[in-house]
Amino acid sequence: MSTARAADRGRRAVGLGARASLRVLLAGAVTGVLLLGLPFAAKAQQPIGIKFSHVTTSDTPKGKGAEKFKELAEKYTGGKVKVEVYANSQLYKDKEEIEALQLGAVQMLAPSTAKFAPLGAKEFEALDLPFLFADEEEYAQVTKGPVGKWLFQKLEAKGISGLAFWDNGFHMVSANRPLITPADFQGLKFRISGSKVADQYFRLLGGLPQILAFSEVYQALQTGVVDGCENTPSNYLTQKFYEVQRHISAADHAHLQYAVIVNTKFWNGLPAEIRGQLDKAMNEATDYTNSIASKENEDSIAQIEASGKTTIHVLTQPQRQAWKTAMMPTYEWAKGRVGREVLELLSKAIDSRTH
Ligand code: LMR
Repeated sequence: MSTARAADRGRRAVGLGARASLRVLLAGAVTGVLLLGLPFAAKAQQPIGIKFSHVTTSDTPKGKGAEKFKELAEKYTGGKVKVEVYANSQLYKDKEEIEALQLGAVQMLAPSTAKFAPLGAKEFEALDLPFLFADEEEYAQVTKGPVGKWLFQKLEAKGISGLAFWDNGFHMVSANRPLITPADFQGLKFRISGSKVADQYFRLLGGLPQILAFSEVYQALQTGVVDGCENTPSNYLTQKFYEVQRHISAADHAHLQYAVIVNTKFWNGLPAEIRGQLDKAMNEATDYTNSIASKENEDSIAQIEASGKTTIHVLTQPQRQAWKTAMMPTYEWAKGRVGREVLELLSKAIDSRTH
């Protein structure tokens, strides 16, 4: 529009004195350049927006990790990137945020790996196998090694890129009666977050698992829609599940981890320099998150205990062993769900019970 007008003005200027005509032409040309150039100039200065949606509160390992990424991403790009963090399901619930990422309505998520089946990557559920990791160290080694890389490769065909694994420790499990022996699970309804592997191990204990969005768990426990659930201490504390569950058992029966994921088209479309700065921010935010997760969970247990609203039962080795024995058939069952390849990789990575 502006070039046409400038040319038009230029044509109308013919017939005026030479100096006047030159002035009009120049003015028109300058106006044209300004009008044409402005939107681009304005655009160039506008920061690139990254919406990072997640479902836990800001004072959890994931919440703090997301804030750390924001801080570092904005710092390293000199403000060329602006990260908006939407915590506590304020923008989207579990399943919706995955759809939003695929549609490009958000650019970054960190869902638990138990929620990857809707992305067509149910292999991630292998990480939910019961008593898979002996401890945090083993978990970290596995996700940093060939298993983690292989899982991220699985996402590529879906237009999703995996950037990092973020830790949130071992699950506890709760109900309004003590869960000490496998028989205690019999007939109770348990909320699970999405994984069919978790569905299977609850069934092996005689429980009735059902998937619910994280944001709906407190109310479901309070109103008796479900009798119990599993989660990490920081999630029990920040979502106040401990207020509506009289007994919590700690047996380290399963592990909760997140995969930070982005829409590949968006990520690869970023200028290389910016992507490099964001990679650096993500690496440091990952180290930070993984370094605070254990302590955050220990502190959460202390706060839950201090509340006096629930009883935490730390299972003895023989009690754990009884759960383990009851849940072990999950491994055989999982071959048909997550496939043998990831199970074999896992068994190579850890002295495994996957065969
Ligand atoms: C859950 O739904 O229980 C967890 O995945 C929530 C979370 O992100 O920690």
